[in-house]
Amino acid sequence: MALIPFAWMRGCLRLLGPLRLLVADGWLRESDVDAGLKLLHPALRLNRVFARVTQRQWVADDMLELTLQANGNWRGAQPGQHLQLYLERDGVRLSRSYSLTAVQPNGCVQIAIKHQAGGRVSPYLLEQLALGDVLELGPAYGELSWPEAQQGVLLLAAGSGITPLLGLLRVVLAQGFSAPITLLHYVRGQGQRAFASELQALQAQYGNLQVHWSLTAAKAEPGQLAGRFTVEHLHSVTALQQRRVLACGPAGFVEQVQHWWQHAQLPGALQVEAFTPPAFNAVEGLRAVRLGFARSHQQMQADNLRSLLELAEAQGLQPAHGCRQGICASCTCTLLSGTVRDLRSGALFSEPGQPIRLCVNAAHSDVDIDL
Ligand code: FES
Repeated sequence: MALIPFAWMRGCLRLLGPLRLLVADGWLRESDVDAGLKLLHPALRLNRVFARVTQRQWVADDMLELTLQANGNWRGAQPGQHLQLYLERDGVRLSRSYSLTAVQPNGCVQIAIKHQAGGRVSPYLLEQLALGDVLELGPAYGELSWPEAQQGVLLLAAGSGITPLLGLLRVVLAQGFSAPITLLHYVRGQGQRAFASELQALQAQYGNLQVHWSLTAAKAEPGQLAGRFTVEHLHSVTALQQRRVLACGPAGFVEQVQHWWQHAQLPGALQVEAFTPPAFNAVEGLRAVRLGFARSHQQMQADNLRSLLELAEAQGLQPAHGCRQGICASCTCTLLSGTVRDLRSGALFSEPGQPIRLCVNAAHSDVDIDL
């Protein structure tokens, strides 16, 4: 229940400078200030970003696009990035990462959410989250960007990998990008062709855009492709040798694209983003190690194969985290002693005071971290 309208709340944020100074100088605690502010409006906070849901739109049988209007603490984002969304369910704080499909200058953003069967967050967002509800947002992150390519771009998406690519596509087409763009979207069936109507409309409006779908688990209609990514699907892409390539989807899909690209010898750099955790290099046998969490005053018997994030959660701790893939940096923590191993590259790190990402590092020896 809000005592003041949302627009007033955004105005109020500009008046909170003195409170911020008192918090910065240690006279007040931010959590106490926030507890008072949220009585005025559930999205009002001193520094944290909260946003209200202003629109819900189904863009596929299993995908919903949400429009969120952030409070005045929002620091902006770029199309192609992701943001962290936080909510509390049954007393547990949960967080998930979603791609931005649009970023507007007035503090509104759009994200697309795919239904994950058995998930704790997406069924709630899709089925219960209502207009006017308030969610907390984390900072935007991600490096995917539109290439400087006058010769053309090839976009390869699988499943919800379409979402960051669509965010980029909407912007560059509106800005007049005129080189050829081909988008191949791999989906299970017709009903999963997210944003299909919009993409078809864009294709009709912009002569340089070609959109194709490939159905991986249903019969394709005439003109559609069939099956998973294969080089045969690229035969109709004109001037392929000059195209810059962006790919987004599950790790297996991204690996296939990377494999093809390495042999195709295309110009520039391949930009990829995988939605599922990268395959970890299991180069070591299982060993028992001691893991200490200094700030929580806890220790556990751990192993050298699971990530420090998994181990901390197994111990009942709730470290901040987002992507669980080593990208967003929200799980970064300080190594106090011992050696950790980067699960992706196998590199070892043992310098005390070094920041490490819990989700992609495992203990190589007995380890203490500042958690
Ligand atoms: S959770 Fe994103 S880097 Fe670890």
